[in-house]
Amino acid sequence: MSDQRPNVLLVDDERATIDLMGAVLETQGFRISLCHTASEAIRMLETITFDAVVTDVVFDGAAEGNQVLAACRQLQPDAVVILMTGYPAIDSAVSAIKGGAMDYLQKPVDPVVLAAMVHKALRERQLAQGDQGLKFAELVDILSGMVSSTIERVDPYTAGHAERTRRYCKILGEKFGLEPYTMERLELGAIAHDYGKIYLDDLGFLTKKGKLTPEEYREVQRHPALGAEKLGAHPHLKEVCTYVAEHHERWDGEGYPRKLKAEEISLPGRILGVVEVFDSLSTRRSYKPVWELEKTQSFFAEYRAKAFDPDVIDEFQKLLEVHGEEWIAQPQKDLIAAGIKLD
Ligand SMILES: [Fe+2]
Repeated sequence: MSDQRPNVLLVDDERATIDLMGAVLETQGFRISLCHTASEAIRMLETITFDAVVTDVVFDGAAEGNQVLAACRQLQPDAVVILMTGYPAIDSAVSAIKGGAMDYLQKPVDPVVLAAMVHKALRERQLAQGDQGLKFAELVDILSGMVSSTIERVDPYTAGHAERTRRYCKILGEKFGLEPYTMERLELGAIAHDYGKIYLDDLGFLTKKGKLTPEEYREVQRHPALGAEKLGAHPHLKEVCTYVAEHHERWDGEGYPRKLKAEEISLPGRILGVVEVFDSLSTRRSYKPVWELEKTQSFFAEYRAKAFDPDVIDEFQKLLEVHGEEWIAQPQKDLIAAGIKLD
């Protein structure tokens, strides 16, 4: 097994002190490298990656600790840096801290206190790196928004539909205890469920006023399979493609494209199917008004165990009791925000 201990560089010209300190830090769970001069430390920083660097500030009367600090910033900006200083050098230590060192300890340094400080600083660094993960999630959100707006470009009346569907799917998915892996893919499936629409041969009837002809309806019905196909064959998108392909299947097997029935449709696909219909009903189109909440609830009660998974409907109806009025009103607000006018 590889050595998982944090790698720490200790730099001090007082050999006896540093040897003892290194020995104590080893007992506290660190892997220690020792250096006695700033130049030796800089050479070490050029070749080995450290999690933390603990350095003296004054070496034989010269404040070379700052050079070690500068080398850390340049060569290993992620390393935690802690300075050790005697009283006369405290000013330079403070200025070094302003230059980026994490913290400092006044000599004589208690190795156990130092070990606790390094552990704490490494924990904080780990949390900060977690924040970077969050920032990446924000980038995923931005890309999701781009996918949604691409779909909305061919069907402007769906402004906000993908984002709302994602939000409600997440809330409903939590009721079913979906694990994070599945939840993330359900959210992406919700964003991309109508992606196939942009690949239809004729986009004109997506915004057609009035009923579609049977041929037009057949053409529109291609969009779930088309979307799944066009999303690609990347293994990370496998489940996403499944949910996209399933979003117009029905519990009773009367949906499309594959006429899958009941649990042949994945649970996330069944959740997406309910949420997607809800949001479409609550969106006003030129040929239909927004449905009242009560009418929507009756519709779901009527089609429970017909078009929709009864368990999913039961959970969704509970959510509508709480959020229904707000969710029904949301599409209209999003259309106004997007500057879409309905005649
Ligand atoms: Fe659809």
